Amino acid sequence: MYIALGDLKRKAGSVFQGPITHSISSNRMEKLVITGGQPLRGSLTVAGSKNTALALLTGALMAEGTSTIANVPRVRDVRTLAQIMEFTGAKVDIPDAGPLVVHAERVIFPEAPYELVKKMRASFYMLGALLGRFGTARVSLPGGCAWGPRPVDLHIEGMKAFGAEIDLEQGYVIARAPKGRLPGGSFRLEPSSVGATINLLLAAVRATGPSRIENAASEPDVIVFGEALQQMGAKIAGLGTRTIEIEGVEALHPAAIVNCPDRIELGTFMIAAAIAGPPGGSVRIDNAEHRHLGGAFKDAFARAGIRVDYHDGHIVVHTPEVILPTDIETAIYPGFPTDLQAQWSVLMARAAGTSRVTDTIYIDRFNHIPELQRMGLRARVEGNAVRIEGGQQLTGAQVMSSDLRASVSLVLAGLIARGETHVLRVYHLDRGYENLEAKLRAAGVAIYREQYDEFAMPEPPEG
Ligand code: EPU
Repeated sequence: MYIALGDLKRKAGSVFQGPITHSISSNRMEKLVITGGQPLRGSLTVAGSKNTALALLTGALMAEGTSTIANVPRVRDVRTLAQIMEFTGAKVDIPDAGPLVVHAERVIFPEAPYELVKKMRASFYMLGALLGRFGTARVSLPGGCAWGPRPVDLHIEGMKAFGAEIDLEQGYVIARAPKGRLPGGSFRLEPSSVGATINLLLAAVRATGPSRIENAASEPDVIVFGEALQQMGAKIAGLGTRTIEIEGVEALHPAAIVNCPDRIELGTFMIAAAIAGPPGGSVRIDNAEHRHLGGAFKDAFARAGIRVDYHDGHIVVHTPEVILPTDIETAIYPGFPTDLQAQWSVLMARAAGTSRVTDTIYIDRFNHIPELQRMGLRARVEGNAVRIEGGQQLTGAQVMSSDLRASVSLVLAGLIARGETHVLRVYHLDRGYENLEAKLRAAGVAIYREQYDEFAMPEPPEG
Protein backbone atom coordinates (compact mmCIF):
# COMPACT_ATOMS: atom_id res chain seq x y z
CA MET A 1 0.00 0.00 0.00
CA TYR A 2 1.40 3.41 -0.93
CA ILE A 3 0.79 6.11 1.68
CA ALA A 4 0.90 9.72 0.54
CA LEU A 5 2.74 12.23 2.70
CA GLY A 6 -0.46 14.25 3.14
CA ASP A 7 -2.20 11.19 4.62
CA LEU A 8 0.74 10.66 6.93
CA LYS A 9 0.47 14.22 8.17
CA ARG A 10 -3.23 13.81 8.87
CA LYS A 11 -2.65 10.53 10.70
CA ALA A 12 0.39 11.77 12.58
CA GLY A 13 -1.42 14.87 13.86
CA SER A 14 0.24 17.38 16.14
CA VAL A 15 3.86 16.20 16.24
CA PHE A 16 4.25 16.83 12.52
CA GLN A 17 4.50 20.50 13.41
CA GLY A 18 8.22 20.31 14.39
CA PRO A 19 10.76 22.59 12.73
CA ILE A 20 11.28 21.59 9.13
CA THR A 21 14.52 23.05 7.85
CA HIS A 22 14.70 21.41 4.47
CA SER A 23 12.39 19.81 2.00
CA ILE A 24 12.82 17.87 -1.17
CA SER A 25 10.89 20.39 -3.24
CA SER A 26 12.97 23.34 -2.10
CA ASN A 27 16.69 24.07 -2.28
CA ARG A 28 16.58 26.05 0.96
CA MET A 29 18.77 24.52 3.63
CA GLU A 30 20.28 25.75 6.85
CA LYS A 31 23.94 26.03 7.70
CA LEU A 32 25.94 27.00 10.75
CA VAL A 33 28.49 29.77 10.39
CA ILE A 34 31.24 29.68 13.00
CA THR A 35 34.05 32.17 13.49
CA GLY A 36 36.88 30.20 15.03
CA GLY A 37 39.40 31.17 17.63
CA GLN A 38 37.32 32.38 20.59
CA PRO A 39 37.86 30.35 23.75
CA LEU A 40 34.85 28.74 25.41
CA ARG A 41 33.82 30.52 28.61
CA GLY A 42 31.74 29.29 31.53
CA SER A 43 29.80 26.08 31.22
CA LEU A 44 27.94 23.80 28.85
CA THR A 45 24.88 21.73 29.77
CA VAL A 46 24.22 18.27 28.37
CA ALA A 47 20.70 17.38 27.19
CA GLY A 48 18.88 14.11 27.81
CA SER A 49 20.14 11.12 25.86
CA LYS A 50 18.79 11.00 22.31
CA ASN A 51 19.36 7.28 21.79
CA THR A 52 17.93 6.26 25.17
CA ALA A 53 14.91 8.52 24.64
CA LEU A 54 14.08 6.72 21.39
CA ALA A 55 14.03 3.37 23.18
CA LEU A 56 12.01 4.78 26.10
CA LEU A 57 9.40 6.23 23.74
CA THR A 58 8.70 2.87 22.12
CA GLY A 59 8.79 1.28 25.58
CA ALA A 60 5.93 3.56 26.62
CA LEU A 61 3.82 1.95 23.86
CA MET A 62 3.91 -1.34 25.77
CA ALA A 63 1.43 -0.26 28.45
CA GLU A 64 -2.25 0.56 27.88
CA GLY A 65 -2.34 4.00 29.48
CA THR A 66 -0.48 7.29 29.76
CA SER A 67 3.23 7.33 30.59
CA THR A 68 5.51 10.34 30.96
CA ILE A 69 9.19 10.59 30.02
CA ALA A 70 11.30 13.36 31.53
CA ASN A 71 14.63 14.76 30.26
CA VAL A 72 13.94 14.05 26.58
CA PRO A 73 15.88 16.26 24.14
CA ARG A 74 13.77 18.22 21.65
CA VAL A 75 15.59 16.90 18.59
CA ARG A 76 14.39 15.84 15.18
CA ASP A 77 14.77 12.07 15.79
CA VAL A 78 12.44 12.29 18.79
CA ARG A 79 9.84 14.10 16.67
CA THR A 80 10.19 11.55 13.88
CA LEU A 81 9.61 8.66 16.26
CA ALA A 82 6.65 10.48 17.80
CA GLN A 83 5.15 10.78 14.31
CA ILE A 84 5.61 7.07 13.75
CA MET A 85 3.99 6.27 17.08
CA GLU A 86 1.05 8.58 16.30
CA PHE A 87 0.58 6.71 13.04
CA THR A 88 -0.49 3.69 15.15
CA GLY A 89 -3.13 5.72 16.98
CA ALA A 90 -1.05 6.60 20.05
CA LYS A 91 -0.65 10.26 20.97
CA VAL A 92 2.64 11.87 21.93
CA ASP A 93 2.59 15.35 23.49
CA ILE A 94 5.89 17.22 23.23
CA PRO A 95 5.52 20.40 25.28
CA ASP A 96 8.25 23.05 24.99
CA ALA A 97 9.54 22.01 28.41
CA GLY A 98 8.88 19.22 30.86
CA PRO A 99 8.17 15.53 30.33
CA LEU A 100 6.81 14.07 27.10
CA VAL A 101 3.41 12.47 27.54
CA VAL A 102 2.69 9.23 25.69
CA HIS A 103 -0.97 8.22 25.47
CA ALA A 104 -0.90 4.55 24.49
CA GLU A 105 -4.47 3.52 25.37
CA ARG A 106 -5.67 3.62 21.80
CA VAL A 107 -3.12 1.90 19.60
CA ILE A 108 -5.11 0.46 16.73
CA PHE A 109 -2.91 0.29 13.68
CA PRO A 110 0.22 -1.86 14.19
CA GLU A 111 2.19 -0.44 11.29
CA ALA A 112 5.25 1.77 10.70
CA PRO A 113 5.35 3.13 7.13
CA TYR A 114 8.41 3.48 4.92
CA GLU A 115 7.95 7.25 4.50
CA LEU A 116 8.73 7.72 8.18
CA VAL A 117 10.96 4.70 8.95
CA LYS A 118 13.43 5.61 6.20
CA LYS A 119 14.27 8.81 8.08
CA MET A 120 15.61 7.03 11.12
CA ARG A 121 16.79 3.49 11.78
CA ALA A 122 15.69 3.42 15.43
CA SER A 123 12.08 3.43 14.20
CA PHE A 124 12.64 -0.29 13.65
CA TYR A 125 12.01 -0.60 17.42
CA MET A 126 8.36 -0.43 16.42
CA LEU A 127 8.68 -4.06 15.31
CA GLY A 128 9.40 -5.34 18.82
CA ALA A 129 6.91 -2.98 20.46
CA LEU A 130 3.98 -3.78 18.16
CA LEU A 131 4.71 -7.51 18.00
CA GLY A 132 5.15 -7.64 21.77
CA ARG A 133 1.92 -5.81 22.53
CA PHE A 134 -0.37 -6.98 19.69
CA GLY A 135 1.20 -10.15 18.36
CA THR A 136 1.27 -8.57 14.91
CA ALA A 137 3.27 -5.83 13.18
CA ARG A 138 3.96 -4.44 9.73
CA VAL A 139 7.12 -2.37 9.80
CA SER A 140 9.13 -1.04 6.89
CA LEU A 141 12.75 -2.11 6.61
CA PRO A 142 14.89 0.97 7.25
CA GLY A 143 17.12 0.82 4.16
CA GLY A 144 20.65 2.19 3.87
CA CYS A 145 22.64 4.58 5.97
CA ALA A 146 25.07 7.38 5.12
CA TRP A 147 28.14 5.32 5.97
CA GLY A 148 27.27 1.93 4.48
CA PRO A 149 25.23 -1.13 5.35
CA ARG A 150 23.63 -1.34 8.77
CA PRO A 151 21.75 -4.64 8.74
CA VAL A 152 18.77 -5.58 10.91
CA ASP A 153 19.14 -9.34 10.39
CA LEU A 154 19.72 -9.95 14.11
CA HIS A 155 16.48 -8.17 15.03
CA ILE A 156 14.56 -10.39 12.64
CA GLU A 157 16.30 -13.68 13.49
CA GLY A 158 15.87 -12.91 17.18
CA MET A 159 12.12 -12.35 16.78
CA LYS A 160 11.91 -15.66 14.93
CA ALA A 161 13.76 -17.39 17.77
CA PHE A 162 11.18 -15.89 20.15
CA GLY A 163 8.42 -17.57 18.11
CA ALA A 164 7.44 -14.95 15.50
CA GLU A 165 6.48 -15.86 11.94
CA ILE A 166 8.13 -13.35 9.65
CA ASP A 167 7.56 -12.54 5.99
CA LEU A 168 9.09 -9.85 3.85
CA GLU A 169 6.67 -8.13 1.50
CA GLN A 170 7.42 -5.09 -0.64
CA GLY A 171 10.09 -3.81 1.70
CA TYR A 172 8.04 -4.44 4.82
CA VAL A 173 8.55 -6.95 7.61
CA ILE A 174 5.26 -8.64 8.43
CA ALA A 175 5.53 -10.30 11.82
CA ARG A 176 2.96 -12.44 13.64
CA ALA A 177 2.82 -14.34 16.89
CA PRO A 178 0.99 -17.55 15.88
CA LYS A 179 -1.23 -17.66 18.99
CA GLY A 180 -1.60 -13.93 19.51
CA ARG A 181 1.35 -13.64 21.90
CA LEU A 182 4.95 -14.71 21.38
CA PRO A 183 5.98 -17.81 23.32
CA GLY A 184 9.51 -16.44 23.96
CA GLY A 185 12.82 -18.18 23.27
CA SER A 186 16.56 -17.88 23.31
CA PHE A 187 18.84 -15.96 20.91
CA ARG A 188 22.53 -15.13 20.73
CA LEU A 189 23.55 -11.80 19.19
CA GLU A 190 26.69 -11.99 17.08
CA PRO A 191 27.91 -9.27 17.02
CA SER A 192 26.44 -7.71 20.12
CA SER A 193 23.92 -5.05 19.09
CA VAL A 194 22.35 -2.18 21.02
CA GLY A 195 19.33 -1.94 18.72
CA ALA A 196 18.66 -5.68 18.52
CA THR A 197 18.89 -6.00 22.33
CA ILE A 198 16.32 -3.22 22.73
CA ASN A 199 14.02 -4.64 20.05
CA LEU A 200 14.17 -8.14 21.51
CA LEU A 201 13.45 -6.81 25.00
CA LEU A 202 10.35 -5.10 23.61
CA ALA A 203 9.23 -8.32 21.94
CA ALA A 204 9.86 -10.50 25.00
CA VAL A 205 8.47 -8.56 27.98
CA ARG A 206 4.85 -9.55 27.20
CA ALA A 207 5.56 -13.04 25.86
CA THR A 208 3.78 -16.04 27.39
CA GLY A 209 7.05 -17.66 28.47
CA PRO A 210 10.69 -16.92 29.32
CA SER A 211 13.31 -15.51 26.91
CA ARG A 212 17.05 -15.12 26.96
CA ILE A 213 19.31 -12.75 25.00
CA GLU A 214 22.94 -13.87 24.88
CA ASN A 215 25.83 -11.54 24.09
CA ALA A 216 23.36 -8.74 24.86
CA ALA A 217 24.49 -5.12 24.68
CA SER A 218 25.44 -3.58 28.04
CA GLU A 219 25.48 0.05 26.90
CA PRO A 220 23.93 2.48 29.43
CA ASP A 221 21.13 3.11 26.90
CA VAL A 222 20.07 -0.55 27.27
CA ILE A 223 20.31 -0.53 31.07
CA VAL A 224 18.27 2.67 31.48
CA PHE A 225 15.70 1.35 29.00
CA GLY A 226 15.49 -2.06 30.71
CA GLU A 227 15.06 -0.37 34.10
CA ALA A 228 12.18 1.68 32.70
CA LEU A 229 10.50 -1.54 31.51
CA GLN A 230 11.01 -2.99 35.02
CA GLN A 231 9.36 0.14 36.42
CA MET A 232 6.40 -0.66 34.15
CA GLY A 233 6.19 -4.17 35.59
CA ALA A 234 8.46 -6.18 33.26
CA LYS A 235 10.50 -9.03 34.74
CA ILE A 236 14.07 -8.68 33.47
CA ALA A 237 17.29 -9.99 34.99
CA GLY A 238 20.92 -9.45 33.97
CA LEU A 239 20.79 -5.85 32.68
CA GLY A 240 24.35 -4.61 32.22
CA THR A 241 25.68 -8.15 31.75
CA ARG A 242 26.06 -10.20 28.57
CA THR A 243 23.04 -12.41 29.34
CA ILE A 244 19.60 -10.89 29.80
CA GLU A 245 16.72 -13.07 30.93
CA ILE A 246 13.11 -12.03 30.60
CA GLU A 247 10.04 -13.63 32.13
CA GLY A 248 7.06 -12.53 30.04
CA VAL A 249 4.16 -10.87 31.90
CA GLU A 250 0.49 -10.47 30.94
CA ALA A 251 0.54 -6.66 30.80
CA LEU A 252 2.72 -3.65 31.64
CA HIS A 253 1.46 -0.56 33.45
CA PRO A 254 2.18 3.08 32.57
CA ALA A 255 4.96 4.85 34.48
CA ALA A 256 6.69 8.20 35.07
CA ILE A 257 10.05 7.52 33.42
CA VAL A 258 13.20 9.65 33.71
CA ASN A 259 15.72 9.62 30.86
CA CYS A 260 19.48 9.81 31.49
CA PRO A 261 21.86 12.54 30.22
CA ASP A 262 23.40 12.06 26.77
CA ARG A 263 26.81 10.40 27.07
CA ILE A 264 27.76 11.21 23.46
CA GLU A 265 26.94 14.90 23.90
CA LEU A 266 29.01 14.83 27.11
CA GLY A 267 31.99 13.34 25.23
CA THR A 268 31.50 15.89 22.43
CA PHE A 269 31.54 18.77 24.94
CA MET A 270 34.63 17.33 26.65
CA ILE A 271 36.45 17.43 23.32
CA ALA A 272 35.17 20.98 22.65
CA ALA A 273 36.52 22.02 26.05
CA ALA A 274 39.88 20.36 25.45
CA ILE A 275 40.48 22.03 22.07
CA ALA A 276 38.84 25.40 22.71
CA GLY A 277 38.84 25.95 26.48
CA PRO A 278 40.36 29.16 27.90
CA PRO A 279 44.18 28.96 28.05
CA GLY A 280 45.20 28.03 31.60
CA GLY A 281 41.53 27.70 32.61
CA SER A 282 38.74 25.16 32.49
CA VAL A 283 35.21 24.48 31.24
CA ARG A 284 32.47 23.04 33.42
CA ILE A 285 29.97 20.59 31.93
CA ASP A 286 26.63 20.17 33.72
CA ASN A 287 24.01 17.40 33.64
CA ALA A 288 26.92 15.01 33.09
CA GLU A 289 26.71 11.31 33.92
CA HIS A 290 30.38 10.47 33.52
CA ARG A 291 29.87 6.81 34.49
CA HIS A 292 28.05 6.34 31.19
CA LEU A 293 31.14 7.35 29.19
CA GLY A 294 32.79 3.95 29.72
CA GLY A 295 36.36 3.40 30.84
CA ALA A 296 38.04 3.55 27.43
CA PHE A 297 36.99 7.12 26.63
CA LYS A 298 38.09 8.43 30.04
CA ASP A 299 41.33 6.52 29.73
CA ALA A 300 41.95 7.99 26.25
CA PHE A 301 41.45 11.49 27.69
CA ALA A 302 43.98 10.79 30.42
CA ARG A 303 46.49 9.38 27.89
CA ALA A 304 46.03 12.53 25.79
CA GLY A 305 47.24 14.48 28.83
CA ILE A 306 43.93 16.24 29.50
CA ARG A 307 42.97 16.62 33.15
CA VAL A 308 39.30 16.12 33.98
CA ASP A 309 37.68 16.35 37.42
CA TYR A 310 34.75 13.93 37.54
CA HIS A 311 31.98 14.77 40.02
CA ASP A 312 28.41 13.59 40.58
CA GLY A 313 26.33 15.48 38.02
CA HIS A 314 29.07 17.68 36.58
CA ILE A 315 32.65 17.52 35.36
CA VAL A 316 35.42 20.07 34.80
CA VAL A 317 37.80 19.84 31.83
CA HIS A 318 41.10 21.72 32.27
CA THR A 319 42.46 23.20 29.07
CA PRO A 320 45.67 21.30 28.26
CA GLU A 321 48.83 23.10 27.19
CA VAL A 322 49.76 20.19 24.95
CA ILE A 323 47.53 17.41 23.64
CA LEU A 324 49.41 14.13 23.31
CA PRO A 325 48.78 12.01 20.19
CA THR A 326 46.55 9.15 21.36
CA ASP A 327 45.39 6.15 19.33
CA ILE A 328 41.88 4.89 19.91
CA GLU A 329 39.88 1.92 18.66
CA THR A 330 36.11 1.80 18.97
CA ALA A 331 34.44 -1.15 20.69
CA ILE A 332 31.20 -2.02 22.40
CA TYR A 333 30.66 -0.59 25.90
CA PRO A 334 32.73 0.07 27.97
CA GLY A 335 34.98 0.46 24.92
CA PHE A 336 35.52 3.73 23.06
CA PRO A 337 32.14 4.70 21.49
CA THR A 338 31.96 4.75 17.69
CA ASP A 339 29.72 7.82 18.10
CA LEU A 340 32.74 9.77 19.41
CA GLN A 341 35.44 8.77 16.93
CA ALA A 342 34.75 11.60 14.43
CA GLN A 343 35.05 14.14 17.27
CA TRP A 344 38.23 12.42 18.50
CA SER A 345 39.81 13.01 15.08
CA VAL A 346 39.34 16.76 15.58
CA LEU A 347 40.97 16.52 19.03
CA MET A 348 43.88 14.69 17.41
CA ALA A 349 44.19 17.46 14.79
CA ARG A 350 45.38 19.53 17.76
CA ALA A 351 47.76 16.86 19.09
CA ALA A 352 51.54 17.17 19.00
CA GLY A 353 52.17 14.21 16.72
CA THR A 354 50.54 11.45 14.69
CA SER A 355 47.70 9.27 15.90
CA ARG A 356 45.37 6.59 14.61
CA VAL A 357 41.59 6.37 15.00
CA THR A 358 40.19 2.89 14.23
CA ASP A 359 36.50 2.01 14.00
CA THR A 360 35.77 -1.69 14.52
CA ILE A 361 31.98 -1.22 14.79
CA TYR A 362 31.35 0.66 11.52
CA ILE A 363 34.36 0.08 9.32
CA ASP A 364 33.71 2.92 6.86
CA ARG A 365 32.39 5.71 9.10
CA PHE A 366 34.83 8.33 7.78
CA ASN A 367 32.70 10.72 5.71
CA HIS A 368 33.93 13.61 7.86
CA ILE A 369 37.57 13.13 6.88
CA PRO A 370 37.43 14.58 3.32
CA GLU A 371 35.52 17.56 4.75
CA LEU A 372 38.11 18.09 7.49
CA GLN A 373 40.80 17.81 4.81
CA ARG A 374 39.15 20.77 3.10
CA MET A 375 39.91 22.67 6.32
CA GLY A 376 43.57 21.64 6.18
CA LEU A 377 43.57 18.44 8.20
CA ARG A 378 46.41 16.14 7.19
CA ALA A 379 44.85 12.70 7.39
CA ARG A 380 44.71 9.46 5.47
CA VAL A 381 42.01 6.79 5.62
CA GLU A 382 43.59 3.31 5.67
CA GLY A 383 40.96 0.55 5.73
CA ASN A 384 38.88 0.98 8.87
CA ALA A 385 41.27 3.52 10.36
CA VAL A 386 42.40 7.07 9.82
CA ARG A 387 45.92 8.31 10.46
CA ILE A 388 45.98 11.92 11.61
CA GLU A 389 48.97 14.21 11.60
CA GLY A 390 48.33 16.63 14.40
CA GLY A 391 49.60 20.13 14.90
CA GLN A 392 48.42 21.91 11.73
CA GLN A 393 46.33 25.08 11.94
CA LEU A 394 42.89 24.40 10.44
CA THR A 395 41.33 27.09 8.29
CA GLY A 396 37.65 27.85 7.79
CA ALA A 397 35.88 26.48 4.70
CA GLN A 398 32.47 25.42 3.47
CA VAL A 399 32.00 21.84 4.57
CA MET A 400 29.17 19.36 4.17
CA SER A 401 27.47 17.41 6.96
CA SER A 402 26.77 13.80 6.05
CA ASP A 403 25.50 12.35 9.33
CA LEU A 404 24.97 13.38 12.92
CA ARG A 405 28.41 12.74 14.40
CA ALA A 406 30.28 13.80 11.25
CA SER A 407 28.47 17.13 11.35
CA VAL A 408 29.30 17.84 14.99
CA SER A 409 32.96 17.06 14.26
CA LEU A 410 32.85 19.83 11.63
CA VAL A 411 31.42 22.24 14.20
CA LEU A 412 34.26 21.32 16.58
CA ALA A 413 36.78 21.95 13.80
CA GLY A 414 35.10 25.33 13.20
CA LEU A 415 35.79 26.30 16.84
CA ILE A 416 39.56 26.09 16.28
CA ALA A 417 39.83 27.02 12.60
CA ARG A 418 41.16 30.37 11.45
CA GLY A 419 38.31 32.39 9.91
CA GLU A 420 34.77 31.33 9.08
CA THR A 421 33.55 27.77 8.76
CA HIS A 422 30.21 27.12 7.07
CA VAL A 423 28.74 23.75 8.07
CA LEU A 424 26.16 22.94 5.40
CA ARG A 425 23.13 20.62 5.65
CA VAL A 426 22.82 21.18 9.35
CA TYR A 427 19.62 19.10 9.47
CA HIS A 428 21.88 16.13 10.21
CA LEU A 429 23.05 17.85 13.39
CA ASP A 430 19.48 18.73 14.35
CA ARG A 431 18.65 15.01 14.51
CA GLY A 432 20.52 14.62 17.76
CA TYR A 433 21.91 17.81 19.31
CA GLU A 434 19.43 20.07 21.09
CA ASN A 435 20.11 23.81 20.73
CA LEU A 436 23.80 23.25 20.06
CA GLU A 437 24.44 26.68 18.65
CA ALA A 438 22.59 28.40 21.51
CA LYS A 439 24.72 26.48 24.02
CA LEU A 440 27.96 27.36 22.22
CA ARG A 441 26.89 30.99 21.75
CA ALA A 442 26.20 31.28 25.49
CA ALA A 443 29.77 30.01 26.02
CA GLY A 444 31.18 32.81 23.89
CA VAL A 445 31.38 31.22 20.44
CA ALA A 446 30.45 33.34 17.41
CA ILE A 447 28.06 30.86 15.78
CA TYR A 448 24.82 31.50 13.98
CA ARG A 449 22.38 29.74 11.68
CA GLU A 450 21.67 30.94 8.17
CA GLN A 451 19.50 29.77 5.30
CA TYR A 452 21.14 29.08 1.98
CA ASP A 453 20.24 27.79 -1.43
CA GLU A 454 21.84 24.40 -1.99
CA PHE A 455 21.97 24.88 -5.77
CA ALA A 456 22.99 28.55 -5.88
CA MET A 457 25.99 29.28 -8.10
CA PRO A 458 28.69 31.77 -7.08
CA GLU A 459 28.73 35.01 -9.07
CA PRO A 460 31.67 35.16 -11.50
CA PRO A 461 34.20 37.87 -10.59
CA GLU A 462 33.75 41.30 -12.26
CA GLY A 463 35.69 42.27 -15.35
N1 EPU B 1 24.56 -5.44 13.38
C1 EPU B 1 24.34 -6.52 12.56
N2 EPU B 1 23.04 -6.96 12.43
C2 EPU B 1 22.01 -6.38 13.09
C3 EPU B 1 22.26 -5.27 13.93
C4 EPU B 1 23.56 -4.81 14.05
O1 EPU B 1 25.24 -7.08 11.97
O2 EPU B 1 20.86 -6.84 12.93
C5 EPU B 1 25.94 -4.93 13.53
C6 EPU B 1 26.14 -3.53 12.97
O3 EPU B 1 26.36 -3.53 11.60
C7 EPU B 1 27.31 -3.02 13.78
C8 EPU B 1 27.13 -3.72 15.12
O4 EPU B 1 26.21 -4.78 14.90
O5 EPU B 1 28.52 -3.45 13.21
C9 EPU B 1 26.60 -2.84 16.24
O6 EPU B 1 25.48 -2.09 15.78
P1 EPU B 1 24.25 -1.79 16.77
O7 EPU B 1 23.11 -2.65 16.37
O8 EPU B 1 24.72 -1.86 18.17
O9 EPU B 1 23.90 -0.29 16.38
P2 EPU B 1 22.47 0.36 16.39
O10 EPU B 1 21.66 -0.17 17.50
O11 EPU B 1 21.90 0.35 15.01
C10 EPU B 1 23.09 2.28 18.05
C11 EPU B 1 23.04 3.77 18.05
C12 EPU B 1 24.10 4.33 17.10
C13 EPU B 1 25.47 3.79 17.54
C14 EPU B 1 25.45 2.27 17.63
C15 EPU B 1 26.73 1.67 18.17
C16 EPU B 1 20.72 4.26 18.48
C17 EPU B 1 19.44 4.79 17.96
N3 EPU B 1 21.72 4.22 17.62
O12 EPU B 1 22.83 1.87 16.71
O13 EPU B 1 24.06 5.72 17.27
O14 EPU B 1 26.45 4.20 16.63
O15 EPU B 1 24.37 1.84 18.49
O16 EPU B 1 26.96 2.11 19.46
O17 EPU B 1 20.84 3.92 19.64
C18 EPU B 1 24.27 7.98 16.61
O18 EPU B 1 23.70 8.29 17.67
O19 EPU B 1 24.86 8.81 15.88
C19 EPU B 1 24.27 6.57 16.20
C20 EPU B 1 24.51 6.19 14.96
